[in-house]
Amino acid sequence: MPNQNTEKTFSIVKPNAMKKNCLGDILSMFEANGLKIAAAKISLISTSKCEEFYAEHKARPFFPELVKFMTSGPVLLLCLSGENAVLKNREIMGATDPKKAAPGTIRFKFGDNVGENAVHGSDSLNSAERELSLFFEKSEICNL
Ligand code: CDP
Ligand code: MG
Repeated sequence: MPNQNTEKTFSIVKPNAMKKNCLGDILSMFEANGLKIAAAKISLISTSKCEEFYAEHKARPFFPELVKFMTSGPVLLLCLSGENAVLKNREIMGATDPKKAAPGTIRFKFGDNVGENAVHGSDSLNSAERELSLFFEKSEICNL
């Protein structure tokens, strides 16, 4: 049974990492750090859904390229659960820019550049709730 500190967070394995055929490695890193795969599906993200997902970055210069990249191929959509899952996932991912990511993090290992940085992870519990509801029905998050 999940305990009181159990959180759910949202993660995406981005198209550049999907191309590296390293899903097993990435999922192992979550599991080895105490996160559980509560829901998972491989999918293409539509442009409109992607723009909604990244709405907070709409005014940033990299926005058009980011949307183009994130819709360029299949991604793995994940709900991760576990103790302090939001922060823990951010630690496992590493810094946004793979060049600044700590050794052993997903972005250090599989990121190519600041845009194509292998994974997304929610930055707060509120973001996690919003993002999960964009991509998963409540009933799909069933492996808790
Ligand atoms: O993903 P994270 O929360 O670490 O970073 P963000 O600041 O929320 O930016 C969202 C995404 O935009 C990043 O993961 C990158 O893919 C992209 N980005 C970019 O292409 N160029 C930047 N200078 C910053 C972010
Ligand atoms: Mg972010």
